[in-house]
Amino acid sequence: MLKGKTAVITGSGRGIGKAIAMKLASLGANVVINDIPQSEDAEKTCEEIKAMGVGSICIKGDVRNIDDVKALVDGTVKEFGGVDIFVNNAGVTRDGLMLRMSEEDWDLVMDINLKGAFNCIKTVARPMMKSKGGSIINITSVVGVMGNAGQANYSASKAGLIGLTKTTAKEFSSRGIRCNAVAPGFIESAMTDKLPDDVKKQYFDAIPLGKFGTVENIADTVAFLASDMSAYITGQVLCVDGGLIM
Ligand SMILES: NC(=O)c1ccc[n+]([C@@H]2O[C@H](COP(=O)([O-])OP(=O)(O)OC[C@H]3O[C@@H](n4cnc5c(N)ncnc54)[C@H](O)[C@@H]3O)[C@@H](O)[C@H]2O)c1
Repeated sequence: MLKGKTAVITGSGRGIGKAIAMKLASLGANVVINDIPQSEDAEKTCEEIKAMGVGSICIKGDVRNIDDVKALVDGTVKEFGGVDIFVNNAGVTRDGLMLRMSEEDWDLVMDINLKGAFNCIKTVARPMMKSKGGSIINITSVVGVMGNAGQANYSASKAGLIGLTKTTAKEFSSRGIRCNAVAPGFIESAMTDKLPDDVKKQYFDAIPLGKFGTVENIADTVAFLASDMSAYITGQVLCVDGGLIM
């Protein structure tokens, strides 16, 4: 389904990003792995993907840093000739009630989750415009839609990402570039492992499908949005949350 396409996924050394990378590779895409310079997972993920028989390179860099992002996009174009799919997946949490939230924790989360995506979209739009098409997918969160006590920084960054998704869709549709967001609910991953048991139970009880999501559930949705099967969809937010919000 994605044979001959090139996909870049930020923060794809592990977790949801890695699952997306493996899924897109399994559908035939060449895959560029990005993660922070300190990541020990990124190269391993890249090797696993090469073993699947598609092209893969690892370009580490911090999405907050525009020079790193330019190196990521330029390196991809140099290796594979263009970028067809770009997934803004890199994200962090620094939870705490608002009255106690430090300016540092606010800035860090906004910088990575929102400004990072802006840096990437702005940079990848040029090669996509040149090749007259592309699919950008932003990984937001259900808390960007519904809010969440203890996550002022995170929910604001993810709500901002939804606005950025819609604006990107509007600005670049005429160039053949689509932009959509995927909003995961509670997904079993390193990010949610660290939550206290009572918080996990509260989520669990509120999920109509009666189970937590998997990283593969998110990867499948990203694959759909990356492919021509979603050719007439842009500016949308797809919640993948077992019915948590509806
Ligand atoms: N796990 C969930 O339940 C859940 C729910 C909703 C949304 N999400 C979103 O899904 C995405 C992936 O989450 P995950 O659960 O796999 O988390 P994770 O912590 O396992 O993975 C995030 C990856 O992003 C990388 N990263 C962090 N800062 C970066 C930066 N500045 N530049 C480049 N890479 C950076 C990390 O090193 C890590 O490999 C995030 O955007 C997260 O907000 C997750």
